[in-house]
Amino acid sequence: MKKVLIVYGTRYGSTEEVSSKIVNTLKEKGIDTSAINSKDLITENQPNLEEYDGIIIGSGIKVGQWTKETKKFIENNLEFFKNSNVVLGVFVSSGLASNPEKVVELKKEYIEDVLNQYGITAGLYDVFGGVLDLSKDSNVGFVGKKMIKMVSKEDPRIKPNQRNDLRDWNQINKFTENYANLLKN
Ligand SMILES: Cc1cc2nc3c(=O)[nH]c(=O)nc-3n(C[C@H](O)[C@H](O)[C@H](O)COP(=O)(O)O)c2cc1C
Repeated sequence: MKKVLIVYGTRYGSTEEVSSKIVNTLKEKGIDTSAINSKDLITENQPNLEEYDGIIIGSGIKVGQWTKETKKFIENNLEFFKNSNVVLGVFVSSGLASNPEKVVELKKEYIEDVLNQYGITAGLYDVFGGVLDLSKDSNVGFVGKKMIKMVSKEDPRIKPNQRNDLRDWNQINKFTENYANLLKN
């Protein structure tokens, strides 16, 4: 049985939900899959990456940046990622990525540039739309809401005072299918 680890970074929870969805889909395909929040890697026992056929790294984006713990995970295991045959998948959740016109640019800025900086490559990577929560129950705070409004000011799909969930679950499922196919090879 193939074994996959998802290491994710999330500030507001949307990337955690995407990771859970990918875990469930891969499990349904008979792949032994688990996910861990990169924040917990600091205190918990470090997983033995050699045990995995595949690793997926996912991060939410804030002001253009991955979470610091997710980058730290790569930095702490750089030699492994440079030298092993593990099937590496990478995704980010980004408020801007739901705009098809932005996808090529954001793939470069949020994924290719980051991986290049570390000198590693991924077998599969993609940018997913995120959640822009402007509702009164939002967990992003006053400043966060201001920043969301700045990021999305030209996007007519972003509605004020609402939780704008821009995740495309078909896209996420397709990514997961493609990843499972890569693992088989
Ligand atoms: C304070 C703040 C800053 C953000 N900055 C960006 C940004 O620079 N680019 C972008 O595409 N999305 C940005 N977003 C949208 C997030 O990427 C989106 O909410 C994503 O779903 C967050 O993932 P998380 O919930 O896993 O942290 C921002 C959101 C907040 C609240």
